[in-house]
Amino acid sequence: MTADWIAVATTKDLARRRKLRVEVNGVAIALFQADGQVYALADTCIHQERSLFKGTMLHGRVICPGHQWAFELDDGYEESQDRYQPTYPVRVDADTIYLNPTPRVGTSAPAETEAEG
Ligand code: FES
Repeated sequence: MTADWIAVATTKDLARRRKLRVEVNGVAIALFQADGQVYALADTCIHQERSLFKGTMLHGRVICPGHQWAFELDDGYEESQDRYQPTYPVRVDADTIYLNPTPRVGTSAPAETEAEG
């Protein structure tokens, strides 16, 4: 898997609404700007596939418009569910936002595995 950085937007694009939806290799990614930092999370919610881009930013989290799961912008953690939304490394260089397309998925304490059925 390549770790190449891909230019996805300019800081000007993002500054307008403080959020932006981009596609990288066919994957939708939501960019957010908060406290001067740029964050990238998979746009498709891990719960029921609503678009996080359409969510609301609040206190360093993005609230999914689907069922109000609140994901930390920096690592995608959702505390009440103890689950993670994938995030992407981002860097900003001369007003261009670069993204590393390899997702990071946080890991929680070993989850209980329940047999289905
Ligand atoms: S679809 Fe995101 S919380 Fe349900």
